[in-house]
Amino acid sequence: MTNFFERTYQELQERVRSSYQSSLGKKRRELVTPALILDLNVARRNIEFMASRMKSMHAKLRPHIKVQKNVELAKMQVEAGAIGVCTATVWEAIVMSAGGIKDVLIANEVVGREKIATLAEAAKSGHFTVTVDDTNNANDLSRAVSKTGSKLDVLIEIDVGMGRGGVRSANEAVALAQHLKTLPGLTFRGVQGYEGHCMLEPNRDERIRKAHEAMDCVGRVVDRLADSGFKSEIVSAGGTGTYDITGADPRVTEIQAGSYVFMDNFHGNLVPGFSKSLTVLGTVIIHHGNTIVFDCGRKSVGIDFVQPTMVDYPSYSARYFAEEHALFDVDEKCPLKLGETMEFVPGYGPTTVNLYDAYHVVEDGVVVDIWPIIPRGPGHGGFIS
Ligand SMILES: Cc1ncc(COP(=O)(O)O)c(C=O)c1O
Repeated sequence: MTNFFERTYQELQERVRSSYQSSLGKKRRELVTPALILDLNVARRNIEFMASRMKSMHAKLRPHIKVQKNVELAKMQVEAGAIGVCTATVWEAIVMSAGGIKDVLIANEVVGREKIATLAEAAKSGHFTVTVDDTNNANDLSRAVSKTGSKLDVLIEIDVGMGRGGVRSANEAVALAQHLKTLPGLTFRGVQGYEGHCMLEPNRDERIRKAHEAMDCVGRVVDRLADSGFKSEIVSAGGTGTYDITGADPRVTEIQAGSYVFMDNFHGNLVPGFSKSLTVLGTVIIHHGNTIVFDCGRKSVGIDFVQPTMVDYPSYSARYFAEEHALFDVDEKCPLKLGETMEFVPGYGPTTVNLYDAYHVVEDGVVVDIWPIIPRGPGHGGFIS
């Protein structure tokens, strides 16, 4: 018997797949543009490389799927050894669970009546862990799961220097853990200390120093919690930029890296050993002298942090990305002509994927499958409770 979430997930899958049927069998550079392309063999190699690197680490891998928002990729990651996935939103978490991923951490606070109610309902049939940093939010979560008769595991989020979510001190963490103990339906399992402020550090030595400092902060809070009777079975941290630093820390039990699957330009410049599996196909729609304009502006490709680049001509840099126009300054050597297509490596993968309904999954240059990008939540043609 499938439940509401599984049925909705299946329906959305079928809807997206059928609307992209005509792309199957096409060559990757002959798709209608802009098109999102996933090179499956490259993604597979990235997943295998990460899995092999994680074997020598203390921590296990729990990939962050806000990057790829797709169950097929998540399953490949789990088959390669990941212990589950983590997500940024409740919608992503529910889709992962409905698609068959057994262990889902929402590595973020879930706030708001509908979101909490939907999570509590989904927790009747799936296993979810959620991070909290606030007693009122914990009260709301507890009330919702008590009402539906479900349960949630909880990690206390610690701010380790990023200044986003998380309790700001060990005292706060202990007080929150004590409060959680009084709340029905919630079980304290440990902590999350995501060192996001270290990911942007281009200097590797400095990144190592900062990541160690962040994990020392996590360690201090974990020790204080333990002294107060709250043992942290789970200590969750890390991203692609720090996976091999934080993953080697004996205090950390799991790593939340996600972008390694695609290696956009942002991460590609920071971490070696992975290749670029995600591209956006664009067409030259304007060509005047040394100015070439493609139809894949910022509504088609994520430009956060670092600019996208052409796959075949990475040395040309973009002048700018307008909404529907990507302007490049080239020279006489650039052979691209009006109407020709070119693939781009996104500046940032997560904000690229979020713009599309589906990946054109490519093997040996040909589209072999369509993988839906469903968990975008209400308002984005995505999953609605
Ligand atoms: C809580 C959390 N964990 C982990 C990550 C790591 O993601 P990535 O590997 O893409 O850097 C992020 C990225 O924003 C995050 O917000």
